[in-house]
Amino acid sequence: SEQTFIAVKPDGVQRGLVGDIISRFEKRGYKLAAIKLVTASKEHLEKHYADLKEKPFFPGLIAYMGSGPICAMVWEGRDAVKTGRVILGATNPLASTPGTIRGDYAIDVGRNVCHGSDAVESAQKEIALWFDKSEINTWKQASHDWVYEK
Ligand code: GTP
Ligand code: MG
Repeated sequence: SEQTFIAVKPDGVQRGLVGDIISRFEKRGYKLAAIKLVTASKEHLEKHYADLKEKPFFPGLIAYMGSGPICAMVWEGRDAVKTGRVILGATNPLASTPGTIRGDYAIDVGRNVCHGSDAVESAQKEIALWFDKSEINTWKQASHDWVYEK
């Protein structure tokens, strides 16, 4: 089943939003496959955001993401990548609808609380960057058959 990389950024951790963000994915029916708190190095974050290295905001983004611990997670389930992005809301929080994480908790694009993979291929790359294979759990969710018809 599809997996996505979701992270609570340092502002979300500092603001005490980790539990709420986990809860939204849990309540939706997604399955948590991996989770850890990690303070990422500059080198690691430059790999994670390699596609953005020419952007003017890149140095600020790397500093922000390295400013404290991040809660890194892998969530699994049907359409997890696309639906994960819907749960997060738009990149710019002021364009995010209320009911999304960013639409409920953020204002500034440079402090937008959470990250989610933007495609299945980037999800696979990000999961491999942030987690060792041994950290990814395979388990049957007791609620599975109540979440999915089949
Ligand atoms: P992520 O889930 O973090 O990857 O966000 P995204 O996929 O919605 O947006 P994108 O990958 O294009 O940008 C990555 C991150 O860079 C965003 O989440 C923002 O934190 C930051 N960012 C994007 N655009 C801007 C900008 O115009 N200014 C600033 N200061 N930061 C930006
Ligand atoms: Mg992105």
